Amino acid sequence: MMTTRVAVIGLGSIAQEHVKAYQKNPLADLVAVADVDLARAKEGAARFGVPRATDSVEELLADPGIDAVSICVPNNLHASIAEAALRAGKDVLVEKPMSVSVAEAEALVTAAKETGRALQIGYVRRYAPNALVAKRFLDEGEFGSIYAARATILRAAGNPGGWFGDKEISGGGPLIDLGVHIIDLCWYLMGRPTAVNVSGAAFSPLGARDNIQHLTRYRAASATRVNNVEDYATAQIRFESGAVLNVDTSYSLHTRNETRVELFGDKGGVQIEPALHMVTERHDTLLHIEPQIDSLGFDFTVGFANQIDHFLRVVRREIEADAPAEHGLEMARMLTAIYESAASGSEVTITR
Ligand SMILES: NC(=O)c1ccc[n+]([C@@H]2O[C@H](COP(=O)([O-])OP(=O)(O)OC[C@H]3O[C@@H](n4cnc5c(N)ncnc54)[C@H](O)[C@@H]3O)[C@@H](O)[C@H]2O)c1
Repeated sequence: MMTTRVAVIGLGSIAQEHVKAYQKNPLADLVAVADVDLARAKEGAARFGVPRATDSVEELLADPGIDAVSICVPNNLHASIAEAALRAGKDVLVEKPMSVSVAEAEALVTAAKETGRALQIGYVRRYAPNALVAKRFLDEGEFGSIYAARATILRAAGNPGGWFGDKEISGGGPLIDLGVHIIDLCWYLMGRPTAVNVSGAAFSPLGARDNIQHLTRYRAASATRVNNVEDYATAQIRFESGAVLNVDTSYSLHTRNETRVELFGDKGGVQIEPALHMVTERHDTLLHIEPQIDSLGFDFTVGFANQIDHFLRVVRREIEADAPAEHGLEMARMLTAIYESAASGSEVTITR
């Protein structure tokens, strides 16, 4: 069996999950890692037993001995590196968000078409068993027509600091970082409806909350002290079908941490997070259905392994990428419209 020769670009926090998942998958041979911080690349390569470490992305992309790359750099670099990789003939798994602008997303759709290479977005939540089960039930029509959904990730003190707080690099705060995961999950499970308009609001009264003590939090690998992103964003997205998606995300908010993803249909409803749970009605009685699966919550490790396996099968041309650049473009349209609406204080119509 021919293995896919993979390189991981950007060796910070999330890259380690890519590295471990490739190393566990028999379809992959992880041959190189790259990071602008050469010491970090070398240290990671030594720790994980990867044969090659470099600080030159160009050198990796020019190497015919590499078939596919995972892109795990800060958000503002996703699109340019992904496009360069596609044009160098590599298949690409790019971390979320695919891009920080609509124009970049359009360029990636074009590049994937022109090169015939595959682009898959790292929407890991789609591949966890809770979402896979929900999708199967939704596709079978168990919940009828879905007319509303709710996507919430609230963190009380969850600004990761570093480049995440710098809008120039991140493209925004919790909306583009956390919201992207759950907006995608709802949008995907709703059957990818066309967004027509959004109404959004964003607030920043609390800041990064670096003063908070005795509380462990996710931190970016590179330290920057800028914080000019929103603390909290809330939005309603309306789709052509008439369905709505309500989104709530925060890094800093006076709240209890909460993750909630729910879809409501005319025959039933399904909660995907915090735990898979279905509700319906039969013979004038409300029913709660608890699926018997290993983990009702979001199983990150299994989701990650499934996502990497999906990508490797895409590279082998056994299947098509099911989170292609077109999905990233729709996401860029929705996120951009929410930020525009928050800035203007008015509803924004999505033009395409
Ligand atoms: N799927 C998920 O659940 C998930 C979780 C965390 C992060 N992410 C995404 O992964 C990406 C990386 O996040 P992170 O938390 O690992 O950040 P990080 O800061 O820990 O790591 C980023 C790495 O990229 C390197 N880098 C920066 N510029 C580079 C360049 N031009 N070429 C090569 N390397 C470069 C940095 O030196 C750093 O090591 C982000 O886009 C983030 O949104 C996804």
